[in-house]
Amino acid sequence: SQFHIAVIVGSLRKDSFNRQLATALARLAPADFHLTQLRLDDLPLYNQDDDGQQAAPVLRLKSEIQAAQGLLFVTPEYNRSIPGVLKNAIDHASRPYGQNAWAGKPAGVLGVSVGAIGTALAQQHLRNILAYLDAPTLGAPEAFIQAKEGLFDADGQVGQASRAFLQGWMDRYVAWVKKHA
Ligand code: FNR
Repeated sequence: SQFHIAVIVGSLRKDSFNRQLATALARLAPADFHLTQLRLDDLPLYNQDDDGQQAAPVLRLKSEIQAAQGLLFVTPEYNRSIPGVLKNAIDHASRPYGQNAWAGKPAGVLGVSVGAIGTALAQQHLRNILAYLDAPTLGAPEAFIQAKEGLFDADGQVGQASRAFLQGWMDRYVAWVKKHA
């Protein structure tokens, strides 16, 4: 069977390292895994008054999550937590009450940062949120990536220094998703 993975990138920046990482990771996945980055930049700011009539981009986000067999979060750390853009998307798809799209979807969490701790605190906050939303998250290996020269090669693939580590991460993630199928 085929596995569709909804990839959620926590940065809207054009040259985002996290988006580059998400794109490079897709090339480490096996042929039966299809990784698609979801669009977050057209979501309105979450407002509980709209729970009864969610906007079209929100409905699209929720249906993309529901159609996926797994989730992959690739996010920067902003001020020692997750970016508002990501939290906004998470909140949207968790509502209305009782219709949480994230529930039961196996999730992987990783991120790249210019700072030395490589999004560790953002990931910790994100794991807390996903636990509440009933999305089981792969615990190990953790992937705290620092953006350094050579992280990506000229072709946009993961560079030599991190290739084996991230391939190992992907292999564990693939097994995690299959275990929940
Ligand atoms: C940052 N950055 C950052 N880095 C970090 O390691 N820990 C942090 O708490 C923060 N805080 C933070 C807040 C805000 C508002 C910005 C804009 C940036 C730096 C961050 O790692 C860097 O900008 C990355 O390049 C962001 O990821 P993308 O956009 O390249 O994917």
